Amino acid sequence: MELAALLPFALWAIAITIAIYFGFLAILTIPAVQRQVIYLNCVTLTWFQDVDYPETWGFLHNQVTPFNLHTKDGETLHAWHILPLEVYRRHEPRLIQEPPGVVEDVKTRLSFKLLREDPNALLVLYLHGAAGTLGSGWRPPSYRALYAAAPDRIHTVAIDYRGFGTSTGSPSEEGLLTDALTLAEWAMNEAGIPSSRIVLFAQSIGTAVAISLAHHLAMKPTPTLFAGMVLVAPFANVELLTATYKVAGVIPLLSPLARFPRLHALLNKFIVTKWPSKDKLAEFVGQCHKMAGDNPKYHVTIIHAEDDWDIPWTQSETLYWNAVNASLPMGISYEELDKEKIQNRIDLGAGGWIMQHQSPKGCLREEIVKYGLHDRIMSYPVVSLAVWRAFETGKPTLES
Ligand SMILES: *[C@@H]1O[C@H](CO)[C@@H](O)[C@H](O)[C@H]1NC(C)=O
Repeated sequence: MELAALLPFALWAIAITIAIYFGFLAILTIPAVQRQVIYLNCVTLTWFQDVDYPETWGFLHNQVTPFNLHTKDGETLHAWHILPLEVYRRHEPRLIQEPPGVVEDVKTRLSFKLLREDPNALLVLYLHGAAGTLGSGWRPPSYRALYAAAPDRIHTVAIDYRGFGTSTGSPSEEGLLTDALTLAEWAMNEAGIPSSRIVLFAQSIGTAVAISLAHHLAMKPTPTLFAGMVLVAPFANVELLTATYKVAGVIPLLSPLARFPRLHALLNKFIVTKWPSKDKLAEFVGQCHKMAGDNPKYHVTIIHAEDDWDIPWTQSETLYWNAVNASLPMGISYEELDKEKIQNRIDLGAGGWIMQHQSPKGCLREEIVKYGLHDRIMSYPVVSLAVWRAFETGKPTLES
């Protein structure tokens, strides 16, 4: 009797939930809303903190120099130059005497000269993930992990893309590529670091930006190749990502629809943001193989944790396969590569496993760790070593 009375109520609850979900999907077809969901740039996570004072996140006084970059389409990007610890130690007395806060002309700073004037200096260009700012979450610890393997040499410059933190504008696929290009051109032209001494580090959506940048520069009539790329928690493309992605690891986006392929495909037509990483990475690798000379052209490391709740590590499997396939004249099927992995991968027990595909033209590494979640992993030694290895063994050159 009572159960029967509850039944209509339960049906109503289900109907309302479904109606809300479809209402949510309808709102998602609006491009401006999509951008907010994908980039989450309004969720700064550093509310009431001043990103012009990096000491707030545990850096030594003036170890980090905040400055601005200007894009050719008129945006101002907030950037941080992070000095490696040993370089800081050697110059500490002079560094602490410089004025703190955001710098108008970064070239006047000692930190900039320490980068530009050291012929052995190495530079990581850092492209962060969605949400937050330069100071949020696991980013500050990850800047420290980047120089850990060579604290006398590895500098990092990170940017907040347009629409993030105190940078102007609002994010878009094209806009973020322009931002990354602005950073790369600044590094090569203003800081005077040749691309052979530059590694791209990126996480989450930043990996799509890094791949897009490397692809863009490699496809030019006069190509530019970096020493390497370290991609943490990447995804194959937005369409494949929406089939599994959960916002903050909890709220499913389109994954309930992934069971209905036609409906999922229909909704994906409305998603204007594509980030076709797997295709661009494959094209990049393919392009490198077309270049003259049997010397390294690329060094790509993909790192992903099995316990990543936001982006499942299987996205890395897809990305890696596309890259390996593009490096082989006859290609390789996903199943064949899987068989090769079982035979050839390096098993690290509780540390996960590593697969490496080496050819004279380049190196593709997939490192799957068991623990590290989506963000925390960026601060782990697996990242420190990957960056060091990219600098040490990458060294791509255009001519033989
Ligand atoms: C794999 O490589 C082959 C040979 O280059 C190519 O024809 C095929 O389209 C590639 N497959 C994918 C999924 O990219």
